[in-house]
Amino acid sequence: MNKPPIKHFLKFDDFTGEEIEYLLKRADFIKKRFKNYETWHPLQDRSLVMIFEKASTRTRLSFEAGMLQLGGAAIYMNTRDSQLGRGEPVEDAAKVISRMCDIIMMRTFEQSIIERFAAASRVPVINGLTNEFHPCQILADIFTFLEHRGPIRGRTVAWVGDANNMSYTWVQAARLLDFQVHISTPPGYALDMSRISEAEQKHLRHFEDPREACRGADLVTTDVWTSMGYEAENEARAAAFANFCVDEQMMALASPDAVFMHCLPAHRGEEVTAGVIDGPQSVVWDEAENRLHVQKALLEYLV
Ligand code: CP
Repeated sequence: MNKPPIKHFLKFDDFTGEEIEYLLKRADFIKKRFKNYETWHPLQDRSLVMIFEKASTRTRLSFEAGMLQLGGAAIYMNTRDSQLGRGEPVEDAAKVISRMCDIIMMRTFEQSIIERFAAASRVPVINGLTNEFHPCQILADIFTFLEHRGPIRGRTVAWVGDANNMSYTWVQAARLLDFQVHISTPPGYALDMSRISEAEQKHLRHFEDPREACRGADLVTTDVWTSMGYEAENEARAAAFANFCVDEQMMALASPDAVFMHCLPAHRGEEVTAGVIDGPQSVVWDEAENRLHVQKALLEYLV
């Protein structure tokens, strides 16, 4: 008998809308147990291997704490002090690592690398961020929106900033869960439309003016213009984005009960003003915490 294919979460639409709805419900159940200090160990004796090619605070902590809270163990590896960064073929590493654990989370620069790794893995692989997608973050963002404002279906998300892994994942989520995304990027930084399907384009509108993108939106969100730690190399880029700082004026154009999100880390005074990120419409701390709860739901589902 053929074994069923292994389920991975490498991009948001690797799951169906029904599966995402299930995870959101499950995350709510799991969060309530956590808040009530209930011991609950569905992943006892199971282990997660986390492979990091890039630095992380939220992703590492939420997966590691989540696995421990589910009764399992999390093992950290990075590409600096393992053979992973020294030329061992990705497929060989995947075959070995996946024989020793139940699930793998990987943060790597290239989507093609995680896809090659997953194809050779015997266990599910979760994308902890690549150059193309950040599905765990968008899962947490949608869960946070649900908590604060109810279902996202039919709502509008305004993305102000870069065509990056977050904006492409928002577009995938919009098609799957039936909401709209307003994208506003500076000239030269627009989405590559060859990566967006016809079905996804129905959920997408482009705006040259970020203020117009925010008009009437239920959620306004942005991300750093330059990766934390690489600011000096990107002065020209920062200049191109100067008009794209999410400020109080943009939030005033959004729906009166709009929320602001940022996946963090953030540069106050660049992509967002301190008044917005630390203001009453900001839900960034819930958004960061919810990485923990949605990923516990994801781990339980995939293992
Ligand atoms: N938002 C996010 O992925 O944060 P880290 O880079 O700290 O994991």
